[in-house]
Amino acid sequence: MKAIVHPLRKFCAPDGNHLETMKKPVTVGVMGFGYWGPLLVRNFRSLPDCRLKAVCDLNTERLKHISTLYPDIEGMTQPLQFLNGSSLDAVVIATPVKSHYPLAKASLLAGKHTFIEKPMATSSQECEELIDIAERKGLVLMVDHTFLYSAPVRKIVEIVQAGDLGDIRYINSRRLNLGLFQKDINVAWDLAPHDISIILHILGEFPVAVNCQGNAHVTPQVEDVTNMSLLFPHKRFATIQSSWLEPRKIREMTIVGSQRMIVYDDLRTREKIRIYDVRVERPPHYDTFAEFQYSYHYGDSYIPHLQQEEPLTLACRHFIDCIETNSAPMTSGRQGLELIRVLEGASASLKMNGAPFIFGSPNGPVLAPVPIGDGSAHSRKPKRTRRGPSRARNGVATLFENA
Ligand SMILES: NC(=O)c1ccc[n+]([C@@H]2O[C@H](COP(=O)([O-])OP(=O)(O)OC[C@H]3O[C@@H](n4cnc5c(N)ncnc54)[C@H](O)[C@@H]3O)[C@@H](O)[C@H]2O)c1
Repeated sequence: MKAIVHPLRKFCAPDGNHLETMKKPVTVGVMGFGYWGPLLVRNFRSLPDCRLKAVCDLNTERLKHISTLYPDIEGMTQPLQFLNGSSLDAVVIATPVKSHYPLAKASLLAGKHTFIEKPMATSSQECEELIDIAERKGLVLMVDHTFLYSAPVRKIVEIVQAGDLGDIRYINSRRLNLGLFQKDINVAWDLAPHDISIILHILGEFPVAVNCQGNAHVTPQVEDVTNMSLLFPHKRFATIQSSWLEPRKIREMTIVGSQRMIVYDDLRTREKIRIYDVRVERPPHYDTFAEFQYSYHYGDSYIPHLQQEEPLTLACRHFIDCIETNSAPMTSGRQGLELIRVLEGASASLKMNGAPFIFGSPNGPVLAPVPIGDGSAHSRKPKRTRRGPSRARNGVATLFENA
């Protein structure tokens, strides 16, 4: 399945360097001031062309907390009053996942540009409806796939697009720690969105199938450990391990290419990515078994310099830039929808004890509980060169032009 690119708007560079003139500040309100909301408030407040005017939370204790931190911000408990009565240009939704869709729908219908935390919604139908409303009303709809704004991921994409790794063979990702247990979503919906968004962005295409196995050890029906495999065209694959039950916090991704490999450790304060010039090759010709030798290449490893900037700051600035320039975000509703499709497939596979879920047409995945086999039915050659994934082409190209 071809990944989706927003057809209508031009893309906006996440660093916003092209904005030359200061405009009237964009007035922003944040819904949800729990764990993640305060980070969004801090970041939007720090932007020069943005005015953080109001926060809405159902919990009055949280509103008391915000009034001590920021006395100038209005606190509200009524979402409808917040959406319709506080003269906002844009709304940021950082509430639990099940409320993303109703709040985002109300926000878009009230004419507000809308920024939704990951994962965008609880189903692809909900995402499609939100995309449709945003497009009809000409509003910016952005999903916070925060890691795509981070320096390590931007550097990895740059390296992959330059062809320095050769052909990508597989990606392996582990996101493990003890807690924070969620009640309404399992660990795959909580943690794997980060990995999925990074993997889709690096590979630039949508998987043909997903397998997912997991177990609910602590809260019945809510898996706290999952192992997901995404199969891509041309037999490329990615594995994602997610857990709330690990003694150590691990945030690690390995990208294995035919020429070089990258290890990305997000917990390191410096030197988050290391490129290894290592590979294994088979001899092209041999006549006798004695002549057959794998050739192992051990070259240098290299640590590229990364800009130190908080990814969330870049994401928030990108949202404001997109509003000001009427551009589609790099992580628009369509990227949010792709991610939800993968999660829906993973949930269906979980219910089938890990049997593969094969994605169907772009209008909706089709369940096909059959072995994946050699993937030949799905493994058409990707229509892209090593230099440029088709899906992310516009967004990423613009990103690096200005980086
Ligand atoms: N991008 C990231 O890296 C990242 C990190 C953490 C969380 N998140 C996302 O942020 C969102 C919030 O997560 P959290 O950990 O802050 O949750 P949380 O439970 O700590 O906070 C949610 C807050 O929303 C409030 N709330 C609930 N329903 C509401 C409603 N209808 N109207 C207004 N307020 C309401 C709650 O009172 C609470 O204060 C989730 O979607 C989560 O996936 C993203």
